[in-house]
Amino acid sequence: MRKIFASVLAAAMILSFAACGGGNAPSSSAPASSAPASSAPAESTPAESTPEASGDTVKVGIAIYKFDDNFMTLYRNELKRYFEEDLASKNGVTYELTIMDGKGDQAEQTNQIDGFIASGMDVIICNMVQSSSAATVVEKCKAADIPVIFINREPSAEDLELWDKVAYVGADARQSGTFQGEIVLETENKGDFNGDGVISYVMIMGDPENVDAQYRTEFSIKALEDGGMKVEKLFEQRADWDQAKGQELANTALTQFGDQVEVIFCNNDAMALGAAQAIAANGRKVGENIYLLGVDALEEAQQMVKDGEMTGTVLNDHINQARTAADVALKALNGETIEKNYTVDYVKVTG
Ligand code: GAL
Repeated sequence: MRKIFASVLAAAMILSFAACGGGNAPSSSAPASSAPASSAPAESTPAESTPEASGDTVKVGIAIYKFDDNFMTLYRNELKRYFEEDLASKNGVTYELTIMDGKGDQAEQTNQIDGFIASGMDVIICNMVQSSSAATVVEKCKAADIPVIFINREPSAEDLELWDKVAYVGADARQSGTFQGEIVLETENKGDFNGDGVISYVMIMGDPENVDAQYRTEFSIKALEDGGMKVEKLFEQRADWDQAKGQELANTALTQFGDQVEVIFCNNDAMALGAAQAIAANGRKVGENIYLLGVDALEEAQQMVKDGEMTGTVLNDHINQARTAADVALKALNGETIEKNYTVDYVKVTG
């Protein structure tokens, strides 16, 4: 009876998901007993009983922290394309994706996860709004036996240990920070335009709750120091990955510190694109009297690096991260053993 109720409710929720075209998931405390595809045995599974037998439909719930984020938009588009084109034709399975916008609000995203569970998703891919809430998501998915793959925002190792159908797919942000610092060291004057033996820099940070922001901030500077340079931090503030905020902060820093600023590090390209506008508005010129670094290798940023308007960026490989996340999600769904962490390398982009 409870099961029938859950199925009816699940069907109703699917309709409402479809009706609102990926809008807000209704919150629900419905029992989540309707996840048949996720109960596959752990070891070898005969073809006819795999959750992914040819002709099947697999329901994938994807929660993105915020649609209004340049990098995560590329990532989500590749996830969709990879499931619906590559994997669908390779496996002969229909992947029914429900992709939700967390709008930067953890409470809203938690409701969306409840909605995924109530509507019987087979597997969930989650880009947390706040990685500190990952344990709650794991507990909910574990209770419903729905594998959950975290992407982009790394949960703690402790949270990943809570269940064996949980993994994190991402990149090691320490590497991207180190690459930013190394790109500066590879320039002719090693970032020291005025020759005083000190690199005076501005740091424009992403959301500081995100380890990507923390590590890029720390390791870019560590690379300079490891390379034997002295550093001076003139200014460090958060612009939450956002281009307009990046422009505003870079402008504030350049107005306040003028020619003292030799390098502007941005934790991502969106903020670097904003900083580039502020650099031009302040009559400065990248490569001649200031350096500018980003991360992600957005197309615009790559073009600016080619044109000499940015010193360098670091490829945050959304294509391989998206494909790995999808592959790991299906492995978990098939009952195969999965690792805790899957890491995709960053790549320096300087020309
Ligand atoms: C980072 C990326 C940023 C932003 C952030 C969101 O990896 O470099 O641009 O998308 O993830 O968590």
